[in-house]
Amino acid sequence: MSQFEIYTFDAPVLRKKARPVRRINKRIRAQLDAMLETMRAANGVGLAAPQVGISKRMVVIDVGEGPYFLINPEIVSQSEETETMWEGCLSWPGYLGQVERPVRVCVKALDRDGREIWVEGEGLLARALCHELDHLDGVLFIDRAKSIIEIEEEISLSGLTCIFMGSPEFALPSLERLVEAGADIRLVVTQPDRPYGRKQVLMPTPVKQRALELGLEVFAPEKISSPDAIERLKRVEPDFIAVAAYGQKIPAQVLQLPKYACLNVHPSILPKYRGGNPVQRQVMAGEQKSGVTIIYMSERMDAGDICLQKTVDIGPNETYGELEQRLAVLGAEALAEAMASVYEGTAGRTPQNEEESSYAPHLKPGEEIIDWEAPAEQIHNLVRALSPVPGAVTFFGAERTKIWKTKLLPSEGFSFSDDTVPGTILKIDDTMAVVRCGQGVIGVLEVQPAGKNPMTARAFLVGRQGKAEKFG
Ligand code: NI
Repeated sequence: MSQFEIYTFDAPVLRKKARPVRRINKRIRAQLDAMLETMRAANGVGLAAPQVGISKRMVVIDVGEGPYFLINPEIVSQSEETETMWEGCLSWPGYLGQVERPVRVCVKALDRDGREIWVEGEGLLARALCHELDHLDGVLFIDRAKSIIEIEEEISLSGLTCIFMGSPEFALPSLERLVEAGADIRLVVTQPDRPYGRKQVLMPTPVKQRALELGLEVFAPEKISSPDAIERLKRVEPDFIAVAAYGQKIPAQVLQLPKYACLNVHPSILPKYRGGNPVQRQVMAGEQKSGVTIIYMSERMDAGDICLQKTVDIGPNETYGELEQRLAVLGAEALAEAMASVYEGTAGRTPQNEEESSYAPHLKPGEEIIDWEAPAEQIHNLVRALSPVPGAVTFFGAERTKIWKTKLLPSEGFSFSDDTVPGTILKIDDTMAVVRCGQGVIGVLEVQPAGKNPMTARAFLVGRQGKAEKFG
């Protein structure tokens, strides 16, 4: 068994278009076997021949269901539906990028014995297929990534006893990252199970579910400030308390428990957007930059000294849900880095500038209703800030409908008279309805009338001809 060296970063072979394999012989098979060895030793899920310096069209992939050897692979079809997720590459170690890929692809190739095979991949397999086939054309994931973060692979938190406190999805990457870095998480504190849905079934928080899957001890007190709860936490004698969107005010007695620090992950560039709803508010305000801040917790919410900050750009069409997911992963990385640096005594500590602070409150009733008198950009920001929950709302005649997706358009090219009322539908085509706003025009792409499935604006309007001429 042999292994190859993996070429990285600026190696020219990574940028060449690889040549097709003409004949599958012993030598090709030996190369494929050595590629698989190399990939496994590096803990990868896919490897393309150019990555080991062989400019030929062949890849190996194993996402956990056994290896595929693919020679001269071609994408035959791919779903229109895409998903954006973090991915990395053995040739670009130490980094992760957010890449949009089709959810399903079908690839035709020859296998190790030269027989034609078709591989239908979904999710991670589809992503691996696209990623590896890109390598054959000299394309790297960094060319496609919407954002890239550096990962500190060497972070080790091994031997540090921790209490983790968090509740929603946002906290999951942080919990997982600490486990991965070897932290000794003695207790996971989360909100109690709450009744959910029409049947009011008690549901655990996402953090509780994942903690139990990871075999961690879970504590879900009604009140973290009760003497019993504090006593329970005290018994852990934690080195660190790590907090990510826990959802209760943490009392001073708890903040003082850890030997090193009580650190909080906050998804904004503090002191801006303190409070309970920072991500939605940033998108709603049309911010172009966001980030995460790790603070040393103090009794005043989100006002503690800053330990570490990382920033990212917000995409012009990025939704609240998409940005929050990105910040959750970035926050997890920052948290692990912060804990390691506090432990080593190299961490920074900068007080927040109170004069620059701002507050991000939860949505108030009525804020979800679109004001068509507003500028197009403001309406676009509201729609993406309220996706995937709770959805921006408007009316068409008497019918209430949510608007899930809009697009900014240049207002030249659409003529309307000055007395055209904002909300008026100027034009309907296959992809959108063009609507006049207070300033400019906007494309409405996807809507969802009450009690129905999401549909294109066209499908919605065609079925309702004559009922109204405008939204709002
Ligand atoms: Ni790669």
